[in-house]
Amino acid sequence: MSKKISCKNYDISINEVTYLQKLIEKINPTKVFILVDSNTEQYCLPHIYDRLPDTNLNVIRIKSGESYKTIATCNEIWQSLKDNHADRKSLMINLGGGVIGDMGGFCASTYMRGIPFVQVPTTLLSQVDASVGGKLGVDLDGVKNMIGVFQDPVAVVIDTNFLKTLPYKELLSGYAELLKHGLIADAKIWGELSVIKDITDIDFERIVHESVLIKKSVTEQDPHEKGIRKVLNFGHTIGHAIETLSLSTDQPLLHGEAIAIGIIMEAFLSYQNEFISQEEYLTIKTRIKALYGNKAKSLPSHEQIISIMKFDKKNNAGKILFALIKDIGQANFDITIDDAQIKAAVEDYKT
Ligand SMILES: NC(=O)c1ccc[n+]([C@@H]2O[C@H](COP(=O)([O-])OP(=O)(O)OC[C@H]3O[C@@H](n4cnc5c(N)ncnc54)[C@H](O)[C@@H]3O)[C@@H](O)[C@H]2O)c1
Repeated sequence: MSKKISCKNYDISINEVTYLQKLIEKINPTKVFILVDSNTEQYCLPHIYDRLPDTNLNVIRIKSGESYKTIATCNEIWQSLKDNHADRKSLMINLGGGVIGDMGGFCASTYMRGIPFVQVPTTLLSQVDASVGGKLGVDLDGVKNMIGVFQDPVAVVIDTNFLKTLPYKELLSGYAELLKHGLIADAKIWGELSVIKDITDIDFERIVHESVLIKKSVTEQDPHEKGIRKVLNFGHTIGHAIETLSLSTDQPLLHGEAIAIGIIMEAFLSYQNEFISQEEYLTIKTRIKALYGNKAKSLPSHEQIISIMKFDKKNNAGKILFALIKDIGQANFDITIDDAQIKAAVEDYKT
């Protein structure tokens, strides 16, 4: 059974087989450009290609992975659009995970000052998180999402069948965002998802739908992250720093793996600030470590983590600001945390 979520400026369709085809027919673009990486070209493109109307279709291929989420890759994409005569009435379809969505959306939003684009997210992470809310961009010098814009797509077209070819590690990475959505906005979702042993076994259509509703509700209240949207950063302030540091090692962490560590550390800060009880904190720590393992041995030092966090876009006048949970299923934001507390959170993770 398919589902549709109506946002202010666009619709999100879930498992509606003919949605993309009908949308393209309605837009009637001069050309269609489908951005893929090597994996989504192999596993996902065949499922949509034959369903697309017989428009002028062009495929733009890039290498897969976070390390290619750069301005250098954007240059290739912009060049390809130009070489193939994309005009303002061309449509871009970003078929892939968060890297393709963030970077393809950024390229579309800036090419000729903006052409329409559709997000077709193919990873769990991009279906429940990256494709919704209009944040687009690329990394700079290894620092995540330093360059970017806010821009809504024409539509988000989710097909949970794409998750069948996703490697387990990638599925688990996206699962961290589902857990985060539960922790900040819906205690029932957290309670249900945090105790599941085999995450391949869940009803993704239902869970993706519930999770997207949370992200949509928060981002629509505050599209440009001036206030309430900051609650989505729970787990990400420390998590992003750990992810960034891991990218230059021989054991880079996936986004969600780093966020899982960030969730534990920021739940510790929530406990230290008396927003949740010690018992609630320990439950979060135990359940997340059961799913993601204990990464204590490969953890960077608190000094390294703090020095990366100072670059975070979310800081204010040099103060590191956090979103923390306030009871399970609620969150607050703009909480100043000092270096000593961050050090304590890093140390506690190891125990
Ligand atoms: N814009 C936002 O609001 C937002 C939110 C969260 C994360 N992000 C960004 O999202 C990115 C991470 O996204 P991701 O985890 O999807 O990473 P990704 O795009 O790198 O995809 C992960 C891997 O899965 C492969 N893949 C994708 N779909 C597949 C499928 N159906 N079958 C088999 N393989 C498939 C990809 O080729 C890639 O190797 C990060 O850059 C992060 O900053 C953005």
